[in-house]
Amino acid sequence: MTETAAKNVKPLFSQEEIAARVTGLAHEIAASEPKRLLAVIVLKGGFVFAADLVRALALENVRLEIEFISLSSYGTRQKTSGEVRVVRDIEVEVAGRDVLIIDDVLDSGLTLKFARDLMQTRGARRAAIAVMVNKPEARRAEIEADYVGFTCPNYFVVGYGMDAAHAWRELPYVGVFESTPSGTG
Ligand code: IMP
Ligand code: MG
Repeated sequence: MTETAAKNVKPLFSQEEIAARVTGLAHEIAASEPKRLLAVIVLKGGFVFAADLVRALALENVRLEIEFISLSSYGTRQKTSGEVRVVRDIEVEVAGRDVLIIDDVLDSGLTLKFARDLMQTRGARRAAIAVMVNKPEARRAEIEADYVGFTCPNYFVVGYGMDAAHAWRELPYVGVFESTPSGTG
């Protein structure tokens, strides 16, 4: 693990731990026997986790359709107004379908609360949420994820899709800065 670690980014959850957790989550999701499953991947951060999760779901014989949504919360990450808007929407109807919203991290919860409310308003039969990292201490909206990879304290994490000032998304593990990060999500 250490030989692949980027300088200054200390692994918190390794590639191996993540792979095992993704397999476990796919198993849990398959056990819920989703009907007409639509995976809604939240860009940009959700793309790495989603790529692994949909393939793990295939190995569980879960068929699904994939759509992408891009959301942005107004203001900076530290001081968000709580206002979320759709930057790029999905392109299919969700009425009557089981939707699985896939994102990188559940932080304040404002983004995923908005996404789930949106899918429910559009008539989804079920709108479940899967995240790789849950940071319960940061929560500002009343929301929990149905499927969580790992729970961690209120660290700023990067890698596995998560960025700091647009960098580090490509790291195959979830890490924390050894020194204070300069960027924001
Ligand atoms: P929310 O605060 O739960 O609405 O999360 C909004 C978005 O902020 C997440 O989808 C991430 O893209 C980003 N974010 C929150 N916490 C972190 C972090 O620790 N690292 C990188 N991005 C983060
Ligand atoms: Mg995000």
